[in-house]
Amino acid sequence: METETAFPVLARADQLTKVYGDPPVQNTVVDAVTVSVRANELTLLMGPSGSGKTTLLMMMAGLVDVSAGRVELFGTNITGRSIAKAPGIRRHRLGFIFQHYNLFPALTALENVAEVLRLKGVAAADAYAEAEKTLQAVGLGDRLQHRPAMLSGGQQQRVAIARALAGNPALIIGDEPTAALDTKTGQKVVALLKQTVGPERGVLLVTHDPRLEPHADRILRIEDGRITADEDKHA
Ligand SMILES: Nc1ncnc2c1ncn2[C@@H]1O[C@H](COP(=O)(O)OP(=O)(O)OP(=O)(O)O)[C@@H](O)[C@H]1O
Ligand SMILES: [Mg+2]
Repeated sequence: METETAFPVLARADQLTKVYGDPPVQNTVVDAVTVSVRANELTLLMGPSGSGKTTLLMMMAGLVDVSAGRVELFGTNITGRSIAKAPGIRRHRLGFIFQHYNLFPALTALENVAEVLRLKGVAAADAYAEAEKTLQAVGLGDRLQHRPAMLSGGQQQRVAIARALAGNPALIIGDEPTAALDTKTGQKVVALLKQTVGPERGVLLVTHDPRLEPHADRILRIEDGRITADEDKHA
């Protein structure tokens, strides 16, 4: 009998499709993508600008409506469920790093991270302690009280990363999480993300950055909304 090392599927897209525009000017930006993201893997999604990477990630996180197909997060079908209807799944088990950070502008770095933990139900004192620890881990221990406007792009990106890391979610999805970082900081951040991977936990990152490839367990390539390659680095 064949034994499979079956780590749990954390996120699954089935024939997932996104079409923008109304007929006759329609643009299929994600075209019937079927893909599973498993625990114990750091998966990279790579492809040219405009190939549909952000749209695919956002649909997989339930942040953008799908035109067709199905999305499961942690075994639960979230297709067509509004953010309001599946908040538990996302808050407790999913950490999302937005391409454009999406920080709360009025909050300090510390508050940005702590607020996410508060939403997960963590008591204030614990949330602030963990937020501080996580910001220190991404090298921002000296920027706790800065608001986003007072931070560089790379520092804002690291606040966004700290926010996704905080609370140890089962799945971290990151959209170009190292785009604004220098090589050394980028490598450090990827190492932190890689450390979270385990038998119950996985990471899915969109990147243009070939320097991240050595860290990947699996690389998916996307072109014009279609997955063109699925490379298992350990096969
Ligand atoms: N809200 C929208 N309305 C219409 N078209 C959109 C919308 N969002 C994205 N698109 C189009 O969908 C295509 C894919 O966009 P997407 O942001 O997913 O690409 P990407 O692979 O993430 O690119 P990049 O590497 O530049 O971030 C693009 O052609 C874009 O113009
Ligand atoms: Mg993008």
